[in-house]
Amino acid sequence: MNAENSLKVDADRLWATIDRSAQIGRFRDTGLRRLAVSSEDKEMRDLFVAWVREDGCAVEVDAVGNIFARRPGSDPNLPPVAIGSHLDTQICGGRYDGVLGVMCGLEVIRTLNDRSIQTRRAIEVIVWTNEEGARFSPPLMGSLAFAHRLPLAQALDTKDDAGLRFGDELERIGYAGKAPLGNHPLDCYFELHIEQAPHLDREGCDIGIVVGGYKTLALRIDIRGETSHSGGTPMADRRNALVGAGYLIAGVNDIGLAYAAERGRTTSPRIECFPNLPGIIPEHVRLIVDFRHPDTAGFDRMHADIKQAIAAAEAKARVAIEVTEGWSWGTSLFAPECIELLKATAVELGIPYREMLSQAGHDAYAVAELAPSVMIFTPCRDGISHNTTEEIDRARTLPGANLLLNAALKRANRSS
Ligand code: GLV
Ligand code: MN
Ligand code: MN
Repeated sequence: MNAENSLKVDADRLWATIDRSAQIGRFRDTGLRRLAVSSEDKEMRDLFVAWVREDGCAVEVDAVGNIFARRPGSDPNLPPVAIGSHLDTQICGGRYDGVLGVMCGLEVIRTLNDRSIQTRRAIEVIVWTNEEGARFSPPLMGSLAFAHRLPLAQALDTKDDAGLRFGDELERIGYAGKAPLGNHPLDCYFELHIEQAPHLDREGCDIGIVVGGYKTLALRIDIRGETSHSGGTPMADRRNALVGAGYLIAGVNDIGLAYAAERGRTTSPRIECFPNLPGIIPEHVRLIVDFRHPDTAGFDRMHADIKQAIAAAEAKARVAIEVTEGWSWGTSLFAPECIELLKATAVELGIPYREMLSQAGHDAYAVAELAPSVMIFTPCRDGISHNTTEEIDRARTLPGANLLLNAALKRANRSS
C-alpha cells in the first residue's frame, strides 16, 4: 500500500453524520448537552443503531448499555477488530468529543461496504456508555464495567443529582441489554479522538499516535465541620466545612501551578455543601480533586503535596477531612504492536505524525487491560474542549480517519 492506492473515507458522508449528531441535544447553538442515558442519549443511540443496521451490522447491547455493531468477517471464529468511543457529552460539551471517534468507526464500515471489501476478522464499532461521568459517576463507566474494573451492581445503583438510578434510566431508554458484560473477546481496540489540548493544532501536525495517558487520580473528599450560628459563633470557634474546602481548593490549585512547568495538572471540579443556606455554618462538604502528571515519579510527588494541602486545610479550618479514591487511569502504556501498526501505516500514507501522551480520560485505558489498544488524536482548535465552542478542521481531521481505516483493515486481514 502507498498513499495513492490507500483507501479513503468519504469526507462528506462522515461530516453529515457529525452534523446530524450535533442536532441531538444541541446546546448554546454550537454545543451539545447529551448526558449519559438521557432522552437525548436515547435519540442518538437509536439513530446510530438504525444507521449500522442499514449498513449490514449485527447489534448487541450489554448490561450497562454498551453498543457493539459488528460487520462480519470471513472467519467468524476470530475476535473482531474494534473501533470505539462515546456519544454522551459533558453538560456544556462540544460536538466532537467522543462523537468523532464513533462516526469515524461508522465511516470505516461504510467505506468497506462501498468497496465490497470482505475482511478476515469482523470489524466492530463500539459505543461506550457514560464516558463523561457528567451525570453518573465515575467516568468511563461502560468501559470500566466491561473490563470488570467496576462491579455491575455498583454501576446500576449509581444515582444522579436528582436521585435517579442509572439502572432505571438505562431501562427507561431501552438500553439495558442482554449481552453478557465483558465476555466479549476483542482482537484489538482503536479509538480516534480529538486531542483536547493544543499541541497538534499549534504544531500544525494532524496526527497524534497516543502511546499512553497521564497518570490520573480523582479523590472524593468529605469535609466535616459543625453547624452553628453565622452571627453568634465567635470566629475562632467555628468549624466551617466550606472554609476547609476553600483552603483546600486554593491549595490544590497552587500545587497545579507549582507543577505546571513539568505539565502537572490539578482540578477541583465539583463541590456539594450542606446545609448550603444563609445564617448557618456549613457542616459537610463533598469535593472532588483530580490530579494528573505525565510520569509516575512526578505524580507521586504531587500526591504527597496534595496530602499535605489536605492536612493544612484540616488544621486551619478545624475540620475533619476523609479521602476516598474515586477513579484512576494512565498507569500503563498502549500496545506496542498497535502503536507500530499506526506508525507504519502513517508512513505508507505519507502522513506526518507525532507520538504523544493523552492528558484526558478515555475508554481506551479500560479496554487496554483486555486487548491490545491504541489511540489516534486529531487536532482541535486551540485545544478547546468540554466547551460548546469546541471546533475541528475537516482537512486536518481526515488524515486521522484515513489512518484509522487503513490500519484497521490491515489488522483485520492479518494472517497470524
Ligand atoms: C475526561 O474526559 C477527563 O479527562 O476527565
Ligand atoms: Mn471523550
Ligand atoms: Mn469529554
